Amino acid sequence: MPLDRHDLSRAFAERFGRPPRWVVRAPGRVNLIGEHTDYNDGFVLPLAIDRAIWIALEPRQDLQVTVHSLDFHESASFSVDRLTQDKAGWIEYLKGVAWSLQDAGYHLKGWHGVLQGDVPLAAGLSSSAALEMATARAFAAVADLAWEPARMAKLGQRAENRWVGVNCGIMDQLISAAGLAGHALLIDCRSLETQPVPFPPGIAVVVLDTATRRGLVDSAYNERRAQCEAAAKFFGVKALRDVDLGLFNARGSSLDETTRRRARHVITENQRTIDACEAMRRGDTTTLGVLMNQSHTSLRDDYEVSSDALNAMVEAARAHPACFGARMTGAGFGGCAVAVIDAQAADDFAPRVAADYQAKTGHAPAVYVCQATNGAEVF
Ligand code: GLA
Repeated sequence: MPLDRHDLSRAFAERFGRPPRWVVRAPGRVNLIGEHTDYNDGFVLPLAIDRAIWIALEPRQDLQVTVHSLDFHESASFSVDRLTQDKAGWIEYLKGVAWSLQDAGYHLKGWHGVLQGDVPLAAGLSSSAALEMATARAFAAVADLAWEPARMAKLGQRAENRWVGVNCGIMDQLISAAGLAGHALLIDCRSLETQPVPFPPGIAVVVLDTATRRGLVDSAYNERRAQCEAAAKFFGVKALRDVDLGLFNARGSSLDETTRRRARHVITENQRTIDACEAMRRGDTTTLGVLMNQSHTSLRDDYEVSSDALNAMVEAARAHPACFGARMTGAGFGGCAVAVIDAQAADDFAPRVAADYQAKTGHAPAVYVCQATNGAEVF
């Protein structure tokens, strides 16, 4: 059972002897399609999922923020008027968000509370973005700031880039801030405009966690970003978003082999994302599945961010007759795949695919249907 606000209210009451003033929630995400396109000003199609970071809190009279993590069994605090960067740790995400909000001109107030989450860590489901958006939502509640999802997402991304030191794009924070129940969101990562896309009836979205976590993700990620920037420069455009297949085919052969394949992934993936969105709108799950499969091939062969475990998981999912399509999701190199399946077969799909994957790889995976939920909320 996913956590809910009553769990957090209870935990707060046990610690403070009274109910919290607010409970905030910000979800993790799974991306249906549109991978490694966000930092190319392109398109992504993620959904916010029913795994989230929760904070139950009340305001304080001073500028102190004190949080007890129920997952790590430890408390941490800082003062919003004396922020200093520390070694890595979960509290750095909260400090980073405080820094980013203040740097943007917001006046913050202190609060204390309890924190708990059920987004698996480092699995590619954006637990960091969820923590950033939950923190932003908490500060917004306490200091009575308007909740503007795109602006808050930008500031969360800035916290991650500049305070935590991870060079991510905008997708994870924006879907965590702006998600809509029952829908995926088509996000234009240049304008930050979002369009809700409803799920065709009768399908289920399944998260398939390979139970592998790979290091070196950051350096490989930065290397891919640099290759994309080099390709955009070659084509004389701001970002690869501005290159279509016609231009790529006409001029791309002058690029070096690796850069050419990286660019081809991004350019074709942008088109697949738009096509997938249209397929969903007309209820064409078959086409959606084909596009997801093509996305995986492109990520595996052209972008080279998949892994043996992810490939094995995707194959196991596709081998099930109820599967329309499956692909790796998130940055890659480990973590999760995503599949779209016939909802009626979900009870059979999960254990069979898990067993198949485990037999092939020896890893014990987690396979579960997820629901598309709202983005960051306050109760
Ligand atoms: C990570 C980043 C996102 C995005 C994906 C790849 O999740 O945080 O910004 O770039 O990888 O699509």
